[in-house]
Amino acid sequence: MQDSAFVHNAFSRIAKRYVLTNHVLSLGIDVLWRKRVAAIVKSYQPALVLDMATGSGDLAESVARACPEARVVGADFCLPMLEEAKQRGRTDLVVADGTDMPFKDDSFDAMTVGFGLRNMATWPGALTEMARVVRPGGPVVVLDFSLPRAPLAAPYRFYLHHVLPRVAGLITGERDAYQYLSGSIERFPSGEAMLDLFRDCGLENCRCEPVSWGIASIYVGEVAG
Ligand SMILES: C[S@@+](CC[C@H](N)C(=O)[O-])C[C@H]1O[C@@H](n2cnc3c(N)ncnc32)[C@H](O)[C@@H]1O
Repeated sequence: MQDSAFVHNAFSRIAKRYVLTNHVLSLGIDVLWRKRVAAIVKSYQPALVLDMATGSGDLAESVARACPEARVVGADFCLPMLEEAKQRGRTDLVVADGTDMPFKDDSFDAMTVGFGLRNMATWPGALTEMARVVRPGGPVVVLDFSLPRAPLAAPYRFYLHHVLPRVAGLITGERDAYQYLSGSIERFPSGEAMLDLFRDCGLENCRCEPVSWGIASIYVGEVAG
């Protein structure tokens, strides 16, 4: 769990360089991860989707492309990130905190969160809110970083702690924000631990799909009826 004032400040500072840094650091693979999330959402044929922690709107855009009939609302607590989303053509944007959303119960058919849950002040609090605002049977789909298993674990950790903050620091001038990123990935629950958290927060039929050797994982849970 994270200090929300620090997170808000960090994203406000890196907003303008966020998308470029993402693509450089992931060698563009993040685009494929978002497409996979969008395909999962599409399989539920939703009419109204909330992309929480939408940031620059990349995941909302992938979902909108995969589900052209759906309305996709993007929400984030950081205005400079939402301004990036707006400049990149996203509409339907709302300033909202994922741990305390201004939406009624069962408002959405599906929810996505890309690289956002890890940054929230309370993971159970945020997941419980997600389960509250999505209708029963609807999916909550979380995409986030995880740690790959051996033999990739050691080289990946080296990349995470030594290469990533330096490269991102050069692009954004904000090395501290990316040192925070490495630490937050180490602290964030993954695999079965995350699925247990999903179940504790009112989600069922929970499953995990590691992508790119477990560098990231997609978690899906359906809101219990
Ligand atoms: C790494 S960016 C992810 C952006 C986008 N979802 C993507 O896939 O690239 C994380 C976003 O989470 C947002 N965020 C962090 N904590 C939040 C919270 N408690 N409520 C809403 N947004 C939050 C940040 O402002 C930032 O825009």
